[in-house]
Amino acid sequence: MTGNGVSGTVGIHDLSFATTRFVLPHTELALHNGADIAKYHIGIGQRAMSVPAVDEDIVTMAAAAAAPVVARHGTDGIRTVVLATESSIDQAKAAGVYVHSLLGMPSAIRVVELKQACYAGTAALQFALGLVHRDPAQRVLVIATDVAKYDPDSPGEATQGAAAVAMLVSADPALVRVEEPSGLFTADVMDFWRPNYREAALVDGQESISAYLQAVEGVWKDYREKGGRALGEFAAFCYHQPFTKMAYKAHRHLLHCCGEDTDDAVVDRVLGRTTAYNTVIGNSCTASVYLALAALLDDADDLSGRPVGFLSYGSGSVAEFFAGTVVPGYREHLRTAAHREAVFRRRPIDYAACRELRAHSLPADGGDHLVPTQTEGPYRLAGISRHKRLYEARCGLSRHP
Ligand code: HMG
Repeated sequence: MTGNGVSGTVGIHDLSFATTRFVLPHTELALHNGADIAKYHIGIGQRAMSVPAVDEDIVTMAAAAAAPVVARHGTDGIRTVVLATESSIDQAKAAGVYVHSLLGMPSAIRVVELKQACYAGTAALQFALGLVHRDPAQRVLVIATDVAKYDPDSPGEATQGAAAVAMLVSADPALVRVEEPSGLFTADVMDFWRPNYREAALVDGQESISAYLQAVEGVWKDYREKGGRALGEFAAFCYHQPFTKMAYKAHRHLLHCCGEDTDDAVVDRVLGRTTAYNTVIGNSCTASVYLALAALLDDADDLSGRPVGFLSYGSGSVAEFFAGTVVPGYREHLRTAAHREAVFRRRPIDYAACRELRAHSLPADGGDHLVPTQTEGPYRLAGISRHKRLYEARCGLSRHP
């Protein structure tokens, strides 16, 4: 289907997110490096960043995000789990297989991991939509999970973060019907990348902002050429938010390219409700667009029947713009209290503690090593033995011995 079409009635049926045990307020970073706090609060629009405990990683966050979805809907009809990440823990095995095991899911399921920087969560969603179109009786569990890590004392450090979003994709969705067409854009740029031998990403900050803006222009042009909606039809826009000010830069750029008014009030009206989680969690990479959606649904006045635009960007670079319509009655299915609790229960730490946590890595000697208990979350990384990660559900069940 093309041209503002609701593609069948397929879309996001449930959405749940999880983040980390610890949080570093930007005031602590500013105390360490002497930056004016306004640079963070106003200049990049960030107030805090989630910091994983030593026993948290993309798998524990993914399982914590997905567990409430599986608890509410069961596993019937789920034949695919797609996990998107750019903070992969293994070059071969999909992280989603650990999640599948921790959640006790049936064996008749395919599990796969997708990568293309921060864009891969949207690739996973589109993959899922295609599967459900082919067989509307099926449901797909999509998980976007990431830990964004830059070198200490680099400009990117202020944009670190971590979170996972789990979405159940189904026919007759309760939250958002995803529409055709999509606008697509790919360009080979080295704005941000992470070679296999590095834990922290490399980035050319200014180049990455230009590449993002170029992609915004590209996806919008393609979206309109394929018969997409006009700009004025959208109630809100969920952008990838490596830092929340980036969404404002991107939307102003889009308005400017379309010859529209770029007034602060106009921009704030369509973006203001999308930043509440990203501004205190930081860059969650593949999860970021869908944290923007969570914030919008949790915070905004009734959006029933209103179109929302999604702009997903992943460095390197690939981007996509698509629309979704909010389903009447969606508010009964939200997890607002749990989402706010995930943010508020994090324990604040100072910069020295954050740096220590960031420096921690699992021993690579093939020996048996336990990981200290720090997280209070439902799943933890308990240790490593013969190069195998050992995960544990809070009920005490040890997996993958
Ligand atoms: P920087 O170079 O240290 O900061 O780092 P700056 O000097 O550019 O300042 C940032 C903003 O704060 C500027 O605003 C300043 O004017 C303002 P702008 O001019 O851009 O509107 N500012 C102040 N405002 C108020 N009071 C003050 C004050 N001082 C300064 N006192 C940079 C910024 C983004 C480069 C850095 O954080 C970085 O390298 N981040 C990582 C890269 C990144 O996030 N890029 C975004 C686009 S790429 C993307 O989204 C993909 C990504 O998620 C990866 C993936 O796909 O996997 C990153």
